[in-house]
Amino acid sequence: MNITDIIAAKRHGNALTDAQIRFWIDGLESFADYQNSALLMAIAMGGMDARETLTLTDAMARSGDMLDLSRYGDATVDKHSTGGVGDGTSFIVMPVMAATGKVCAKLSGRGLGHTGGTLDKLEAVDGVHTDISEKRFFEIVDDIGIVIAGQTAALCPADKYLYALRDVTSTVDSVPLIASSVMSKKLAAGAKNVVLDVKTGRGAFMKTVDEAKALARAMVDIGRGAGRNVSALVTTMDAPLESAVGNAIEVKCALEVLAGRERGDVYEVAKELCAALGTDGKTFDRAISSGAAYEKFERMIYALGGKRGCLERLPAARYQKTVFASKSGYVSDINAMTVAQVVLDAGGGRRVKEDGVLPEVGVKLHVVLGDEVVVGQPLATLHYTRGGDEALADRLSEAFDVSDVGLQRRSRIVCKVQ
Ligand code: URA
Repeated sequence: MNITDIIAAKRHGNALTDAQIRFWIDGLESFADYQNSALLMAIAMGGMDARETLTLTDAMARSGDMLDLSRYGDATVDKHSTGGVGDGTSFIVMPVMAATGKVCAKLSGRGLGHTGGTLDKLEAVDGVHTDISEKRFFEIVDDIGIVIAGQTAALCPADKYLYALRDVTSTVDSVPLIASSVMSKKLAAGAKNVVLDVKTGRGAFMKTVDEAKALARAMVDIGRGAGRNVSALVTTMDAPLESAVGNAIEVKCALEVLAGRERGDVYEVAKELCAALGTDGKTFDRAISSGAAYEKFERMIYALGGKRGCLERLPAARYQKTVFASKSGYVSDINAMTVAQVVLDAGGGRRVKEDGVLPEVGVKLHVVLGDEVVVGQPLATLHYTRGGDEALADRLSEAFDVSDVGLQRRSRIVCKVQ
């Protein structure tokens, strides 16, 4: 077997055999970048069927360490979002599930481009470190039932290598390649029960509902094929999900939800994600209203190194600038992509992996879609640190549209895939 024949087979529209796929992934770094890139392009153009995608995912998952959660039996749960704006649902779903007795041992990533990263948000809290040892990871799980930490370089090295090539060869937006990339990490992370939040819309990778459904289907099929209990929700990401976009500011928002003081779309989506993991609506509401979910989150923060009182004094930006409605009417649009770009440009996100993030930077939204506003009413506040960034407030105000007619409120949840 050789790599050139495998490239040719895919280029001519053939399905690859399991042996060919494993030969490729097992030998990945012994082949030239141009050969791996050529095969990625052939896959991006020719696609892969369900069997090929499952084999590719399995081979990638086995390319490095695999977290062994078998000691917790079937109680392990995990959640993955394909990347959103103002999307801190992990900080609600995981504590709620932990409060109901499930084991939440979650590995997360950092933000890149316009989407936020769970680890960046957690590390916005004073003292918190997510690069913990495996020993410490399991100590926290055993003690509290919930931990969210960074994945080590040894987890899915094949994905890291392929993702870097895809990023520079225009082969990111391919369903089998995204599905295998996401699911290889989920399989290696070990949880038995997984819910996927596949975003669609302006602020998402998958711009159309049909693309999002196809990705959800491919990932659920992989999970099932690998013996995991996986389901997905397709949810819209045209406007930010929460009332905040950034790092510390999103943690604050999640705390408000966990404390029962904020509801809205994020509450609805988190509740449905928990339902997909087997927790009914009443149990979800009780985990919030009793304070049990809040306590789980708070204990995890301290276990990860949070300094005393860190949640009461989250980093605050030096400056704030508020944008106001220029006419009266109803909020008909809050463009997630525009808000995300403003936060990114103010230093709240990273353009390349090596960038740092300013934890205190972000946008606080004062309205949601459909709200009636009068001229001069505050729409959002930019929290920024660097002099000159106040100019970004003009861009922020462009994210909003106010129309004369009211909107029908629409659920974020498009469909479930199981
Ligand atoms: N997230 C991933 O982990 N991989 C992709 O390919 C796209 C999004």
